[in-house]
Amino acid sequence: MSDLQGRVAIVTGGAAGIGRATALLFARAGARVVVADRAEEAARAVVAEIEREGGEAMFQHVDVSREEDCAAMVKAAVERFGRLDIAFNNAGMPGRVSKTEDQGFAHWHRIIDVNLNGVFHCMVHELRAMKEHGGSIVNTASVAGVRGAPFSSAYAASKHGVIGLTRSAAREYGRYGIRINAICPGVVKTAMAEELATASPPGTADALLAASILRRPGEPEEAAELVMWLCSDKASFVAGAHYMIDGGLTA
Ligand SMILES: NC(=O)c1ccc[n+]([C@@H]2O[C@H](COP(=O)([O-])OP(=O)(O)OC[C@H]3O[C@@H](n4cnc5c(N)ncnc54)[C@H](O)[C@@H]3O)[C@@H](O)[C@H]2O)c1
Repeated sequence: MSDLQGRVAIVTGGAAGIGRATALLFARAGARVVVADRAEEAARAVVAEIEREGGEAMFQHVDVSREEDCAAMVKAAVERFGRLDIAFNNAGMPGRVSKTEDQGFAHWHRIIDVNLNGVFHCMVHELRAMKEHGGSIVNTASVAGVRGAPFSSAYAASKHGVIGLTRSAAREYGRYGIRINAICPGVVKTAMAEELATASPPGTADALLAASILRRPGEPEEAAELVMWLCSDKASFVAGAHYMIDGGLTA
């Protein structure tokens, strides 16, 4: 069953991990997909995979910390496919593992620029493109968006910000038929999770999983299923929400 037939979707961070899995799922559901990322080769490989499966997609280079890139991304989507219905603002980077006083000012600013300002930059342009006809936006937060993340305070602050931005904008744009929600992944098997596990003291990743209900990491495809549902008409009564997808880590 194609839930997104005829829709046009942007996926930032679409080259890898949760974004890649979602771009592929969107395309299988009938959407035309803009795979937006700063990692060109990997993103083009996702476009090629979608096309091999008979879908329609395009690559767009974007560094979400640059507002002009985000403006160009939305413009390119509308120019190529005629409209914009769905946006998954998912690009993000992991934080440095250190005490707050050692996070570093430059690091703090970079994390906020990518993880929070990046979502804002994308949303401003997406909302303008969707206002006439409505749409659905999903932003990627994290379990670190709803509770403290010791030794990752910049990252946690950025993800708390994503939830505040999601809820506030959702309350403004419901009247335009635009539903805005967030997802809060726990540990999902991606390059980022691997990078974090390597940077953390030994045993940290295992302890996190042991503290969850399902006691295993999630697959990117499991997160993609939630995003797909949120973006589809099946979630027509869901707005301003943030959904945990964390194997029960925060239960
Ligand atoms: N994997 C996890 O355990 C986990 C947990 C909670 C939240 N998240 C969030 O999920 C999102 C996706 O992460 P993932 O785990 O799939 O990671 P990933 O490293 O597999 O993929 C991230 C993608 O984002 C792209 N990207 C990074 N910075 C960018 C920028 N400035 N502009 C454009 N693209 C950029 C990367 O090139 C990459 O393709 C992130 O926002 C992350 O914070 C992940």
